[in-house]
Amino acid sequence: MTNAISVENLSMTYDNKGEKNIAVDNISFTVDQGEIFSFLGPSGAGKTTTQRILTTLLPIENGEVSIAGYNVLTDAKKVRANIGYVSQLGGADPNATVRENLELTGKLYGLSKKLTVQRIDKLSKLLDFHELLSRFVRTLSGGQKRRVEIAQGILHEPEVLFLDEPTTGLDPQNRANLWRHIKKLRDNGMTIFLTTHYLEEADALSNRLVILDQGKIVAEGTPTELKKKVSGEAISLELKYLQDVEKINVFFNQIGIDNVIETDMKFTIYTSKGEELIGRIFKYSKENHVELVNLSLSMPSLNDVFLSLTGKELRDGGKRGEQ
Ligand SMILES: Nc1ncnc2c1ncn2[C@@H]1O[C@H](COP(=O)(O)OP(=O)(O)OP(=O)(O)O)[C@@H](O)[C@H]1O
Ligand SMILES: [Mg+2]
Repeated sequence: MTNAISVENLSMTYDNKGEKNIAVDNISFTVDQGEIFSFLGPSGAGKTTTQRILTTLLPIENGEVSIAGYNVLTDAKKVRANIGYVSQLGGADPNATVRENLELTGKLYGLSKKLTVQRIDKLSKLLDFHELLSRFVRTLSGGQKRRVEIAQGILHEPEVLFLDEPTTGLDPQNRANLWRHIKKLRDNGMTIFLTTHYLEEADALSNRLVILDQGKIVAEGTPTELKKKVSGEAISLELKYLQDVEKINVFFNQIGIDNVIETDMKFTIYTSKGEELIGRIFKYSKENHVELVNLSLSMPSLNDVFLSLTGKELRDGGKRGEQ
């Protein structure tokens, strides 16, 4: 069985007024047929750039890419016929109805009128917007609009669907609802490559994922495999006052803890002796009047994977020791 997506040594450099900016830095990966594969990474990691190359919207500079068995460079037309792409910005016309939008999509893909009507009926039921077909897109909620845009992306029944940050801007309930629909598409046999900067999303949806940072792949695997890479448990500690940062660092030094990851006034330590250490931190802070906003022990999350690999929090994109 051929891979749905195969990428080898892909690089992409933007020229910003003479200044070279490496957006994608020699990445390789494959995506199996029928899986949900994610790129998890902070803003500027190169997620959209990669997807735009894979969907033929940007030229290939270096590397080999094939989608659904077709080479992106030599068989771009075949690639386009076999993929759907829902961009970060979305593409639905706000001043047309849902049905009009989908009819136009059908025309663009060269589908017959009859087939378009059939597919609109099928997809609007599958993605739960059948009762919205006559509404203007501008009157839809964010989640409803997203589902219509996904239908636009798959009206021609492609093998591979690319979704660029599908749930950005949605509230948690709508996000979970969209996850359900994305899984439904996967369960119907579609291969899905999505990008996200939401850890929970990558965790909940992906069969496999890649963590991308500054154009490079820093980790790859199933969510469980990645979480297993972080040994032990995670202690999180947050200070109330800046003046205590030095104090606590001295304390960590004294007790021989040297793997502390510090972001702002938050500290993360991965340890196999979680309970013992948390007791010592608690005792120390009480005795030395160090006020804690938070002190907790948890099993590693994908955030911990990202933090331990890059020294950065994915949530805020903050960077350790950045000048
Ligand atoms: N058209 C462009 N011209 C110049 N530089 C660009 C262009 N598009 C993107 N970049 C730069 O390339 C890098 C990667 O950008 P990209 O949009 O691929 O990141 P991203 O992971 O999709 O980020 P986000 O989560 O914010 O969407 C960034 O440093 C960005 O500033
Ligand atoms: Mg992007």
